[in-house]
Amino acid sequence: MVFLSGAALVGLLVASVAAVDIKVQASGGNKTSRMPYGLMHEDINNAGDGGIYAELIRNRAFQGSSRYPVSLAGWTPINGAALSIKNLTAPLSSALPNSLNVATGNGSPDSEIGFRNDGFWGIDVRVQNYTGSFYVRGSYNGSFTASLSSTLTNETFGSVSIPSQSKNDEWIKHEFSLVPKSNAPSSNNSFGIQFDAKSVIGGSLDFNLISLFPPTYKGRENGLRVDIAEAFEALGPKFLRFPGGNALEGPNLANPWKWDETIGDLKNRPGRPGVWGYQTSDGLGLVDYLHWCDDMELEPILAVWSGLALDGAYINETDLQPWIDDALAEIEFIRGPASSTYGSLRASLGHPEPWKLSYVEIGNEDWLAGAPSGYDSYIEYRFPLFKQAIEEKYPDIQIIASPSKFDNMTIAAPAAGDYHPYRQPNDYYAEFSKFDALGPENLTLVGEFAAVHPNGGRDWDAGLHPFPWWIGGVGEAIFMIATERAGDRIIGSTYAPILRNMNRWQWSVCMIEFEADNSKTTLSTAYHVFKLISTHPITANLPTTPSTNTSSLFFVAGVNEDTGAHVFKSANYNTTNHEDTPVKVGFAGVEQGRKAQLTLLTSTEGPFGFNDPKIGNNVVKETNEELVAGSEGVFEWTMPELSVAVLEVSPEEKE
Ligand SMILES: *[C@@H]1O[C@H](CO)[C@@H](O)[C@H](O)[C@H]1NC(C)=O
Ligand SMILES: *[C@@H]1O[C@H](CO)[C@@H](O)[C@H](O)[C@H]1NC(C)=O
Ligand SMILES: *[C@@H]1O[C@H](CO)[C@@H](O)[C@H](O)[C@H]1NC(C)=O
Ligand SMILES: *[C@@H]1O[C@H](CO)[C@@H](O)[C@H](O)[C@H]1NC(C)=O
Ligand SMILES: *[C@@H]1O[C@H](CO)[C@@H](O)[C@H](O)[C@H]1NC(C)=O
Ligand SMILES: *[C@@H]1O[C@H](CO)[C@@H](O)[C@H](O)[C@H]1NC(C)=O
Ligand SMILES: *[C@@H]1O[C@H](CO)[C@@H](O)[C@H](O)[C@H]1NC(C)=O
Ligand SMILES: *[C@@H]1O[C@H](CO)[C@@H](O)[C@H](O)[C@H]1NC(C)=O
Ligand SMILES: *[C@@H]1O[C@H](CO)[C@@H](O)[C@H](O)[C@H]1NC(C)=O
Ligand SMILES: *[C@@H]1O[C@H](CO)[C@@H](O)[C@H](O)[C@H]1NC(C)=O
Ligand SMILES: *[C@@H]1O[C@H](CO)[C@@H](O)[C@H](O)[C@H]1NC(C)=O
Repeated sequence: MVFLSGAALVGLLVASVAAVDIKVQASGGNKTSRMPYGLMHEDINNAGDGGIYAELIRNRAFQGSSRYPVSLAGWTPINGAALSIKNLTAPLSSALPNSLNVATGNGSPDSEIGFRNDGFWGIDVRVQNYTGSFYVRGSYNGSFTASLSSTLTNETFGSVSIPSQSKNDEWIKHEFSLVPKSNAPSSNNSFGIQFDAKSVIGGSLDFNLISLFPPTYKGRENGLRVDIAEAFEALGPKFLRFPGGNALEGPNLANPWKWDETIGDLKNRPGRPGVWGYQTSDGLGLVDYLHWCDDMELEPILAVWSGLALDGAYINETDLQPWIDDALAEIEFIRGPASSTYGSLRASLGHPEPWKLSYVEIGNEDWLAGAPSGYDSYIEYRFPLFKQAIEEKYPDIQIIASPSKFDNMTIAAPAAGDYHPYRQPNDYYAEFSKFDALGPENLTLVGEFAAVHPNGGRDWDAGLHPFPWWIGGVGEAIFMIATERAGDRIIGSTYAPILRNMNRWQWSVCMIEFEADNSKTTLSTAYHVFKLISTHPITANLPTTPSTNTSSLFFVAGVNEDTGAHVFKSANYNTTNHEDTPVKVGFAGVEQGRKAQLTLLTSTEGPFGFNDPKIGNNVVKETNEELVAGSEGVFEWTMPELSVAVLEVSPEEKE
């Protein structure tokens, strides 16, 4: 025989790969966490200032520290004004001791002088309502002009005149709103304030806390950047872990994240030396995180400082009590009655209603910085003393230790652990059954995870991958499926870090890359995978036969009891000879003819494809298909090598 027909050839090839045949039982699985996926905020990569915090003015209040000295970064003069930083004897506030002095200098006496700020590496200017404010001190009888203009051509897109109310010896707040007449062609724009030098008595004016916001997410004052917040909302997250991360720990014992310095009027927030190479404003503070939770319907997971700094120094047992008291005060501020000491502080800031707070994590990665003695101190006294004090006062709070069972800490129930697997994709593949080691009482949060190292690399020595990449996303899908299979023991999981400003970053692998120009926001391969898996919740697992993976196909099955939908999530890793994997999934109790939606993700650029903010591509191909159940509720489809799929079976139609 020489000739085979095309049809026969196809038949032979298909026959060579047997379908993976999976039976899903009608019941018998565990209930799962109601908050399987969430978000984690860490002030890295300008994720806060210049990121999700919508403030457009960089270095708006000349905050600094011995680590990051006060500077004029971001500011330039207009028409020969002389700019300098002054530490006045009467500052705007003790939290903001430095201000901008604008002297008439050698500018033309006829012209308006002033200063401008080029934002967080540009300002996105559109026809929308910007709201701004600034404080000024000095004698000026005239008007200020606030404007948004091109840094390249000086073209003004919008401006507003603000009558001066300034006084010689007083800091006076000026507020304004500004609607540009046209969209700027690029984000190479700046915000300027000008005034008539002739009408200034005394040769100069002092300015501070110069602020400008575009419209914010859900219209919240001092709120979040809309496009980024909406991208997160679309992930269907259920919790927010904040305020970090390493940012919580602080660079040294003198500078942990201090909750009470991040609340109230912006002029009372001193800011702090961050741990990622820059000063932070703390404009995005404790109350702002809670507003974020309110506006996105997220459960707060509050991390309290546990007495360990990132340089490895930690608080001795005899000195720990004030910090335990501080954590109790913070919790009372969030959820205590308005009649309590710190609850009344909250009420004085306009929020008499307590917030809900059910999860408190003690520290961050206490197994890492300062180990071994810092870790020993955590196990010996820091964790037990914080835990005891919080449980005594708030017995309903779920305490979470910052290490997990996988970091060699035995955590007595009901406390939970926190696991942070930053991995090679192959590791997620190899560790699929890792959570089998957790007993029913070993609750674990996955407070951070991401595929960050290339396969076969030397992990941290080899550094991070330049961007999230496709096979990394498939590895993450396998990991997410593993967490869902242990959904009774895994409180929830969150990718980290979630944001990267392309103009200043420290960590290359993040869910969303962005810059000032909102049209450049890039959803990574990791984002697309996370979104598909996160937006199809399972509230109770269903046992399957086979019970676990085949050589390449990893899966979890369950039901969403809120909608009655059966859900099957799968990821296909490397296959033999790169063959496709035919899949047959039969659900007990699902009758023939029932419809299901299959969403399949593949890469158009193979395992190493990634979404590049420079070119704005998307290598993730999404295919949607309606499948119909055959006999015994069986759905059939094909998973290519390195693909991720979710099948959601429509609940029985009632007519
Ligand atoms: C824009 O204005 C600045 C002064 O604010 C000036 O130095 C610069 O030359 C102007 N650029 C253009 C293109 O006119
Ligand atoms: C500003 O001056 C005050 C006292 O006048 C001082 O305590 C503070 O350290 C100074 N700040 C800076 C950043 O120089
Ligand atoms: C812009 O917002 C401010 C403050 O919210 C408001 O007072 C003003 O009316 C708005 N302007 C326009 C044109 O919508
Ligand atoms: C401010 O300027 C206006 C108009 O030039 C003038 O009428 C007014 O007297 C001035 N006020 C002060 C306090 O100098
Ligand atoms: C405009 O701003 C972008 C983003 O900061 C920058 O990469 C680019 O070089 C700027 N273009 C010019 C012509 O300055
Ligand atoms: C903790 O105690 C040791 C021994 O007394 C001392 O050397 C160390 O400085 C103390 N650490 C702190 C942060 O106070
Ligand atoms: C846990 O123990 C293993 C085995 O001794 C060790 O390799 C690992 O570094 C330990 N992890 C931590 C976080 O201490
Ligand atoms: C699970 O929790 C129990 C009860 O707190 C504890 O005794 C046990 O050591 C934990 N299991 C593991 C694997 O750490
Ligand atoms: C239910 O959870 C327990 C541990 O909590 C686990 O041992 C068991 O395998 C789970 N059952 C199913 C069907 O997944
Ligand atoms: C399931 O995957 C693991 C890797 O996690 C692999 O070692 C194992 O062989 C797979 N199971 C089967 C039945 O192929
Ligand atoms: C899967 O294939 C990739 C290349 O696409 C390779 O780097 C990786 O090591 C393979 N993983 C396994 C477990 O075979």
